[in-house]
Amino acid sequence: MGNEYNLQIKNVTKRFPGVLALDKVDLETRRGEVLAVIGENGAGKSTLMKILSGAHLMDSGEIRLDGKVIPPETGPKARMDNYGLGIIYQELNYLNEMTIAENLFLGRVPLKGILRRVDYQAMKKASMELMRLFDMDYNPFTLVKSLSVAEKQILEILRAVSRDVKVLVMDEPTSSLNEVETQRLFGYIESLKRRGVTIIYISHKLEEVFRLADRVMVMRDGKRVGVLDVGETTSGQLVEMMVGRAITEMYPKAELPIGEEVLRIEHLSCGCARDISFSLRKGEIFGLYGLVGSGCVETVEGLLGIRAISGGKVILDGKETKINTPIEAKKQGIAYVPSDRKAEGLVLIHSLKDNLTITKLDELGRGLKINSARQKEYSDTWIEKMQIRTPSRNAIVESLSGGNQQKVVVAKWILTDPKVLIMNDPTRGVDVGAKVEIYKIMEDLCRRGISIIMVTAELLEVIGITDRMLIFANGKIEGEFQRKDYDQKAILHMAVKGSENA
Ligand SMILES: Nc1ncnc2c1ncn2[C@@H]1O[C@H](COP(=O)(O)OP(=O)(O)OP(=O)(O)O)[C@@H](O)[C@H]1O
Ligand SMILES: [Mg+2]
Repeated sequence: MGNEYNLQIKNVTKRFPGVLALDKVDLETRRGEVLAVIGENGAGKSTLMKILSGAHLMDSGEIRLDGKVIPPETGPKARMDNYGLGIIYQELNYLNEMTIAENLFLGRVPLKGILRRVDYQAMKKASMELMRLFDMDYNPFTLVKSLSVAEKQILEILRAVSRDVKVLVMDEPTSSLNEVETQRLFGYIESLKRRGVTIIYISHKLEEVFRLADRVMVMRDGKRVGVLDVGETTSGQLVEMMVGRAITEMYPKAELPIGEEVLRIEHLSCGCARDISFSLRKGEIFGLYGLVGSGCVETVEGLLGIRAISGGKVILDGKETKINTPIEAKKQGIAYVPSDRKAEGLVLIHSLKDNLTITKLDELGRGLKINSARQKEYSDTWIEKMQIRTPSRNAIVESLSGGNQQKVVVAKWILTDPKVLIMNDPTRGVDVGAKVEIYKIMEDLCRRGISIIMVTAELLEVIGITDRMLIFANGKIEGEFQRKDYDQKAILHMAVKGSENA
């Protein structure tokens, strides 16, 4: 058989201003295997993959595919076309103003006839076949901007797998998928494996590593810490290799007193959500759980004035209130941590310091009058608290790793000192250690009397951290559970069954 590895990355080093992102890293894969790559936020996973895909140039090192060296300057398109190297990036790359079909066939639209016109029929047919893999049933000429984050992520996956790949990198592909979509992706990965495709799979979810991967490589601080056979390791061992210490308690949930009602929603209808009523009490963490299209995201978006509501009332501190935008919501003491940090959460080209304190301008002053000593102090406190990995408070947010950007979004909204904090998938892409930190901060907020509504696609998280939860399916509330009655199977069953009855 000759060489047992099809892909060999050797001694790759990459330096960014102020950061040694990769320090002499090796990685090798076999045909038809899933190699998981794990590590804390900022460990260098995405950077290594961007070097493999040709999006970044390495400072030194070598990459061989099937024994042949890939010239370092080879760009992403040539790597895909000539070497079969595909990548699904962590940060979504869709073009909102274009259609599903155009996004799927970006840069390689089928043409027909001597006039080389775009072959829309072929595009339509191929797009529909691809979407069927994930039970997506849209007109291929629908604009991408009308899709949910999860659907956009599926689109990214479809775009990559529609080509003839040998090695496919997936950088946190399930970070905004729900259980059902995730299972579908896993089924699809199995079929790629059987076709001999190598998958490099980056994830912060260890369950996925154990479920999918043959081997797992752990990175820390830009270095490879080790590579293990999945069958011969435990999650405890992997966590320790990643963070350098053992984490005994993933969900540090304290028993805290829960007070009187703070917020009440009555008969709210918004988008697919119909006739939703619930009340939120002081100091509680209240979960909204459901699959995509179940109505939980629509409910909070209606509540916050992001989407127009078609009926219902919002009652804050006993008084009916009208909220038309998240800014108005903030004025009334309701802060919102959105799920799509790129679109809603951050000003990527600004510094970490400015992003962290943008919601504090009233207090810190504006423009030239800004109290820069206070601003520095604030940002340093939160960089420390959230363990944001950055060369300095002045670093541009775009240069931070995905998980570290998410920590900035969370911190920025916590800093507004709200009465009610609404979080939509707050730990998306955040590593295990930092997740625990975010949960602890949530507990702390509750202790100070703040109430939290958490929408998450992660079942283990909603079970681990909330006091009470509503299960949404098919635009309606399907059921409610108190913490003492939480039962993973029953909850999932309710969420899935409700949506199948549609
Ligand atoms: N374009 C860039 N400019 C400057 N620094 C960068 C750039 N991209 C990444 N970095 C830095 O390189 C380091 C590694 O980042 P990388 O994105 O590879 O981490 P990661 O392991 O993928 O983390 P996460 O789990 O959060 O996605 C980080 O310190 C990050 O701030
Ligand atoms: Mg990353």
